[in-house]
Amino acid sequence: MDAAGGGLVSPTPDVAAELFGPALEKAEQYAAILATRGVEWGLIGPRETERLWERHILNSLAVSTFIPDGATVVDVGSGAGLPGIPLALARPDVRVTLLEPLERRALFLTLAVEELGLGEQVRVVRDRAETHKALYDVVTCRAVSALPKLLTWTMHLFYPDGRLVALKGASASNEVEAADRDLRRRHLSGRVATVEVYPGAEPTYVVVVR
Ligand SMILES: C[S@@+](CC[C@H](N)C(=O)[O-])C[C@H]1O[C@@H](n2cnc3c(N)ncnc32)[C@H](O)[C@@H]1O
Repeated sequence: MDAAGGGLVSPTPDVAAELFGPALEKAEQYAAILATRGVEWGLIGPRETERLWERHILNSLAVSTFIPDGATVVDVGSGAGLPGIPLALARPDVRVTLLEPLERRALFLTLAVEELGLGEQVRVVRDRAETHKALYDVVTCRAVSALPKLLTWTMHLFYPDGRLVALKGASASNEVEAADRDLRRRHLSGRVATVEVYPGAEPTYVVVVR
């Protein structure tokens, strides 16, 4: 444990330099924020600090391939900023809204955005997906809800030619199959892509609905 009460962050993996490019230092600063304030405020489990990079920060970048150049993105249920903050750092071309209903989490996000100097690219909105009124090219989310509920919560947030990009676990295909009727009723289709964010990374399952 460090003086701030959080765990020590594991060393920055070599691959992070390639994935974050000029934003590497900011990505390291974000890792430190997660490992200190993130843990103190209960947004990150203390045991997670050892695997912040692989499991949280780099894993978040699995959404990036599915996000067109210059897109507007809303990260629904952003929590501590995952996947929205790593995405914004790696992709300076996208504009990101971090949507989070809980006051404490929204405050955490506001402080992180300020400290990382991301104010021109990233905004924080305290709201629930169902009541948020705005349109984006892409909705991202990780660990927020199962697909049928996610569709109900987020369909009004993306343009007709936009998409939902959800980071899911290994049961992603079952989730898409189970939501088949819901998807068809809404004239949408869902597919699962398996992404290896960097050579040798554990596969990440990404559900893309459009
Ligand atoms: C398990 S956390 C995941 C946080 C982050 N996406 C991550 O992967 O670490 C789920 C988040 O969804 C938020 N949430 C719950 N219901 C929501 C809703 N209706 N609209 C938007 N966010 C919601 C919660 O406040 C919480 O921060």
